[in-house]
Amino acid sequence: MFFMQESMPKLLIQGGKPLRGEVRISGAKNAALPVLCAALLTRETLAIRNIPQLNDVTTMLALLTQMGVSIKTETNNAIELSVENLTCLTAPYEMVKTMRAAILVLGPLLARAGEATISLPGGCAIGMRPVDQHIKGLEAMGAEITIKHGYIHAVAKKLRGTRIVMDIVTVTGTENLMMAATLAQGTTIIENAAREPEVIDLANCLNAMGAKVRGAGSDIITIEGVSTLHGAMHTVMPDRIETGTFLAAACATGGDIFLKETNARLLDAVLDKLTEAGAGIQSGDNWIHLKMNTKPRAVNLRTAPYPAFPTDMQAQFMSLNCVADGTAIITETIFENRLMHVQELKRMNADIKVEGHTAIIRGITQLDGANVMATDLRASASLIIAGLVAQGVTVIDRIYHLDRGYEAIEEKLSALGAHIKRAVGNSCDLARTAEW
Ligand code: UD1
Repeated sequence: MFFMQESMPKLLIQGGKPLRGEVRISGAKNAALPVLCAALLTRETLAIRNIPQLNDVTTMLALLTQMGVSIKTETNNAIELSVENLTCLTAPYEMVKTMRAAILVLGPLLARAGEATISLPGGCAIGMRPVDQHIKGLEAMGAEITIKHGYIHAVAKKLRGTRIVMDIVTVTGTENLMMAATLAQGTTIIENAAREPEVIDLANCLNAMGAKVRGAGSDIITIEGVSTLHGAMHTVMPDRIETGTFLAAACATGGDIFLKETNARLLDAVLDKLTEAGAGIQSGDNWIHLKMNTKPRAVNLRTAPYPAFPTDMQAQFMSLNCVADGTAIITETIFENRLMHVQELKRMNADIKVEGHTAIIRGITQLDGANVMATDLRASASLIIAGLVAQGVTVIDRIYHLDRGYEAIEEKLSALGAHIKRAVGNSCDLARTAEW
């Protein structure tokens, strides 16, 4: 076990360099994953552009291949998927446990093949994350669902359109039901739907394939079922969380960065908080420029479904607040266990107290570089930001979380002047001998 820890790659960061320069934002992970699953809905070819190169994408492609999808890689970020015949209707435990978004094959398989067997995702580091709303919605559409031996088995000769009122706002839940409803008989109305931009991106892709989806981006989505969907070409939207992560990093380090191929309109709540923290922000159609001339000011925030502040940006703002002037209060309302990065930030000398789902952060002058461990994807990003502002070297362990969701992050940060690299070895030795 000890040997395994040593052989796993770690990220080394020498803090103290402000981020400066230009960087291209990748396609959104959370938009790419559902769009890949949409390929299951048609026999024809779905061409997808701006696909990010991420481990979650690789896992999803492996799952789809196993189901009979053929994949043609055009370039690094462009692929074509086609599935004339579905050869397997099962998403096995091994895949669902590595990537919960695998649940997104449930709706499309059921709609096209009338049957699906998907491993129950189970809890994960940040919370219980049940899928009861996905199941409830599909049952309302006429599916017979049984749960046995840890698997959801769903059968429906033909799904029927109906009115579904979601008990809570769920992003992948809304996406699963929206995909299932495209091929159902009659009209489906999803109320209390998620309004996230990734839901709109998926609706745009489905409509390009011949679906009749209206209202995506509002809390009522109407889907008129059609008998078949056809091939299409879709370009994945920019990643608003990657965008926000770079902006928070530049704000924390006193940087000056220009992000291209992104969209400021996707992250109003995040830009408002960065402005409140003291950043100067300008944006155009597909770019954002952030300049930070002062020490950041503490900003309070509360996560909530879109268009409010995203839970996927909470950890990054925690790090920003660690070095801000004043005291901030952050409340996490979406996931019950998403403050695990606090313990790691405290190892870097951060002054944070947690009460329930709320963290109280008292800004300090300087974080100290330390050996820390990433606990989930966005927690990894928060530790990178902390490492970038800390004095000395930070070594981040378990960065496999990071590779699930950030494309070429060291390359991008290095290009902005950060001292960051990947290395294998014992954390203490790596910290002692790190050189740039
Ligand atoms: C998606 C995003 C994830 C983001 C999250 C919240 C993808 C691939 N992932 O995850 O990055 O952090 O939205 O913005 O898009 N819930 C239930 N029952 C359900 C479904 C969800 O109780 O059937 C609960 C969850 O436990 C959580 C809340 O609803 O507390 C929101 O979860 P949800 O929006 O479903 O998150 P995901 O779609 O899994």
